[in-house]
Amino acid sequence: MLDDIAKTGTDFDRDLAAANDPAALDQVRVRYFGRKAGAIPALFERLKEVPKEEKRSVGDALNKLRDRIKSTLDEKTAQVASQKQVGQRPLDVTLPARLPPLGHLHPITIVRRELEEIFLEMGYSLDPGPEVETDWYNFEALNFTPDHPARDMQDTFFLDVDQLLLRTHTSNVQIRSMERWKPPLRVLSCGRVYRRDEITMRKSPVFHQAEGFLVDRGIHIGHLRATLEQFIKRLFGADLAMRMRPSYFPFTEPSAEVDMSCVFCRGKGCNTCSFTGWMEILGSGMIHPQVLRNVGIDPDEWSGFAFGFGLDRAAMIKFDIPNIRTLFENDLRVLQQF
Ligand code: PHE
Repeated sequence: MLDDIAKTGTDFDRDLAAANDPAALDQVRVRYFGRKAGAIPALFERLKEVPKEEKRSVGDALNKLRDRIKSTLDEKTAQVASQKQVGQRPLDVTLPARLPPLGHLHPITIVRRELEEIFLEMGYSLDPGPEVETDWYNFEALNFTPDHPARDMQDTFFLDVDQLLLRTHTSNVQIRSMERWKPPLRVLSCGRVYRRDEITMRKSPVFHQAEGFLVDRGIHIGHLRATLEQFIKRLFGADLAMRMRPSYFPFTEPSAEVDMSCVFCRGKGCNTCSFTGWMEILGSGMIHPQVLRNVGIDPDEWSGFAFGFGLDRAAMIKFDIPNIRTLFENDLRVLQQF
């Protein structure tokens, strides 16, 4: 009997060493203290058969074993439980720190910066110009007649104060820059413009334009064409063709609407370009002599070209964004893709 008690002790030590989680420890507890088949109750049961004179020493040994098993089992159970609270994975102090989330550039900002980069390389200066304007800078100096339909309430946001308005295009910067600096001049101006339009897939009452213009001696339409071709190819791809169609703007003469090969079918014809192979992307022309006179530049000595380019549309084309609203909603799920 004493041998069996000793053996139960060593069995327990081995079982305890192998049990390292709460479930395994529970099983050990059942194996030794379980009422039906537990090893300790079974030994106590056998105490009856022990001869009287040995009862005392065997009983003592059995009590000692029971107390030892109970206390070591309790101790290990508590220890495993506290480890679990701290987290079973050890702390890896060599892991790199988690960085704070970084912002992304807006698609319009990406296109604007690319455009600025291209024109800065060509020697242009940047001049944003004001969004709140007077009639003179937005219309009059640009040769709009007083009854020109573009001035109409339907197109222009007029402010209540001082006959101010929100500029309807970035061409106001032509006048402002030419007033401030003497030619030769090369300026690129990017910014917001406003028109009283309904919001649709392709139109928004607030949108973005880039205005480029150059004034120097002997400037002709070939300079305009070469400049446009350069920047279109750099912005959208060297394989794209470009064409100019006669058009009309009060502040340029002659004026031209500019198309480039459809970026989606590369000129073959698809749904987006209505199977023409072309997309209209900007308005341009040679600065009207009257506009130069309005800012005190002699049109017999100087000439220049100008163009206006829609940045929203460029971003939509470049990143295949079908709805202009996407550019103004600031949905993080969209912005994070850029
Ligand atoms: N300002 C014109 C527009 O908004 C575009 C343009 C700019 C045309 C410069 C010619 C020259 O439609």
